[in-house]
Amino acid sequence: MSRTFVVTGAGSGIGAVLARRLIGRGDRLVVVARDADRAQDLLADLPGSTAVIADLADPASLEAAVATADLPSHIDAVVHAAGIVELGEVGALPVSAWTSQLAVNLVAPAELTRLLLPRVRAARGQVLFVNSGAGLTAHPQWSAYAASKHGLRALADALRGEEAAHGVRVTSVYPGRTATPMQAQVHAQEGAAYDPSRFIDPDSVAAAILAALDATPDAALTDITVRPGPR
Ligand SMILES: NC(=O)c1ccc[n+]([C@@H]2O[C@H](COP(=O)([O-])OP(=O)(O)OC[C@H]3O[C@@H](n4cnc5c(N)ncnc54)[C@H](OP(=O)(O)O)[C@@H]3O)[C@@H](O)[C@H]2O)c1
Repeated sequence: MSRTFVVTGAGSGIGAVLARRLIGRGDRLVVVARDADRAQDLLADLPGSTAVIADLADPASLEAAVATADLPSHIDAVVHAAGIVELGEVGALPVSAWTSQLAVNLVAPAELTRLLLPRVRAARGQVLFVNSGAGLTAHPQWSAYAASKHGLRALADALRGEEAAHGVRVTSVYPGRTATPMQAQVHAQEGAAYDPSRFIDPDSVAAAILAALDATPDAALTDITVRPGPR
């Protein structure tokens, strides 16, 4: 039976692979695009999808965006795959790096979840957060990103306890370095050469996400860590 998924970050990397796989198997997809032009690009690539137009860097704008979107009454899962990264030592990171990463990576997922929760409850559905190894361990240069992802783990854990009574399952997926445009950008920020073959294929992370989304209701895949395989 086809299901309805809301996916952020469906235009690139892990979210794009996941979106294509959902469409390919006949599920219904609602993408969250930062503006109307981006929505047009995404919908051209993902036939049959619809879009919510919302800039996740401005979480306060999400309420109006969701209110004006054409959304079904039942949503089987919300997948939060959008994210941004800006590296730097605490001694050098500008306040904008903190506020932007916290907004996109943590506050927007919380607010979008809040706004969609009645529809997710109606479907006894799922909320899945694409976290990161940085949500479990914070290394030098990664403070703001890791803080946003540690916070995302807290959001998921609290939500899981709250929503169990409504039959809603909550999953965090913690990928290691994955070969996407974000990883190329991380390498540029680190001043290192980028060789995508050294990192996890985004298809493999999408497969882990689908394992959680496809789990039968007797089981909840709460936390999934995806590490690079031995090379
Ligand atoms: N790549 C890795 O090594 C890695 C490792 C661990 C965890 N992760 C996490 O995995 C998730 C997916 O990352 P990725 O590597 O696939 O990244 P990516 O290729 O850079 O894609 C990020 C997506 O987020 C969207 N996005 C960013 N800011 C947005 C905003 N203000 N409003 C709306 N959408 C916005 C982008 O939209 P546009 O397409 O419009 O730019 C893009 O589709 C992220 O949460 C990331 O933190 C990645």
